[in-house]
Amino acid sequence: MDYRELLKKAKDAKENAYAPYSGFRVGAALLTAEGRIYTGCNVENASYGAAICAERAAISCAVSRGERRFEAIAIESNGEGGTFPCGICRQVIAEFGPDIKVIVGKADGDFRIYEIRDLIPHAFTAADIIK
Ligand code: THU
Repeated sequence: MDYRELLKKAKDAKENAYAPYSGFRVGAALLTAEGRIYTGCNVENASYGAAICAERAAISCAVSRGERRFEAIAIESNGEGGTFPCGICRQVIAEFGPDIKVIVGKADGDFRIYEIRDLIPHAFTAADIIK
């Protein structure tokens, strides 16, 4: 699939961001191995620590629908240079496989592609706890 299309879905999802405290709006679009797309946005809370990031919102949405196999996640925000997933989101993305692509969209329409294995080296995974 054309990652520009996935980035467009992330941009659309960003419109639903609930970010009254930070003003930082984020949208994510998650592509499954079968080509389905699930989106999420950040959802903040008056109890700041209760906020959920767009990436995890998208993953929760997909997993809740029975999805487990993911190919890529695209991220758009109102930050200029593009937004990388936070540490918690990197951990959550890595749960579903080391070769998931992370597509970081920039304000000028350009984007960069990474693999989650490179964004969270030596990730703690199921292999570390399942004997
Ligand atoms: N945020 C995301 O949704 N994804 C990221 O990758 C980075 C941070 C959100 C969390 C919070 O609502 C706001 O951005 C500021 O940290």
